[in-house]
Amino acid sequence: MSFDNDLELRKVAAVNPEAQLLLRVVCEDSTAQCPMSLKFGAKSSMWNELLGMVQELKLNLAGVSFHVGSGCKDPESFEQALLDAKEVFRLAKERGMQEMRVLDIGGGYPGDTAGFEKIAPGIAEKLGRLFPRSEYPELRLIAEPGRFFAAHSAHLLTSLGCAASERKVYAKAKLPATDENAESGSEVCRYYLNDGLYGSFNCIIYDHVSVEPEPLRSHEGPEVPCALFGPTCDGFDVVLEKHTMPELEEGEWILWRNMGAYTSAAPW
Ligand SMILES: Cc1ncc(COP(=O)(O)O)c(C=O)c1O
Repeated sequence: MSFDNDLELRKVAAVNPEAQLLLRVVCEDSTAQCPMSLKFGAKSSMWNELLGMVQELKLNLAGVSFHVGSGCKDPESFEQALLDAKEVFRLAKERGMQEMRVLDIGGGYPGDTAGFEKIAPGIAEKLGRLFPRSEYPELRLIAEPGRFFAAHSAHLLTSLGCAASERKVYAKAKLPATDENAESGSEVCRYYLNDGLYGSFNCIIYDHVSVEPEPLRSHEGPEVPCALFGPTCDGFDVVLEKHTMPELEEGEWILWRNMGAYTSAAPW
């Protein structure tokens, strides 16, 4: 169980004093897709005091955890986090605490295999260099990958003019283009989908992703400008404001790949 403040420690002491605790250290994660350091993690100035409190409350410190931010873009974040973990291990030893047994390197790994393959060797190298087996023979390494497992576990299908849905969405409209760069007389197709920012596409706002529609049926025709909207009446419910793809008919399906992470699970 991880903790990063004194109130949590007191709560653990009251309800589960046998818990194996991990001190969660804060990470520099400002370049991550979804930073977490504003909410979680103890700063270095707090570590010694928290370790002292663990001893005072006769709790059980097993090791250190961190999370470099979801969708980590900078593998160097792991370097600093591992150095910080090493420093907590040193402080604990200096205080005569029992040997640290667990290092939890959190999540943050990319959702695509290519991205993971790019980042993983660097992390392995840092672990081998900073926590060599010879120095930490009993250390158990754990991780908490979320996006890596979930992202490609699901694709999303949306429909235009969803007869199966109770929501009476307006399926398609063709309006004159208002874009100043548009050719005169050109038109934009507006597609109204049965999912939007209030549903799975909340990932556009909260997970800061760009989504890519693929018509499920193959099309021969030319690509035309279009906009894709969610089913609500809110003008903010825009999935893609400017896009080009073959013209779709009402009732067609659109495929959105790799929508397994931070999508339908997020709206409450
Ligand atoms: C404590 C913790 N561990 C792991 C994860 C998974 O992170 P990711 O999806 O970036 O791998 C999260 C995500 O919120 C988390 O809060």
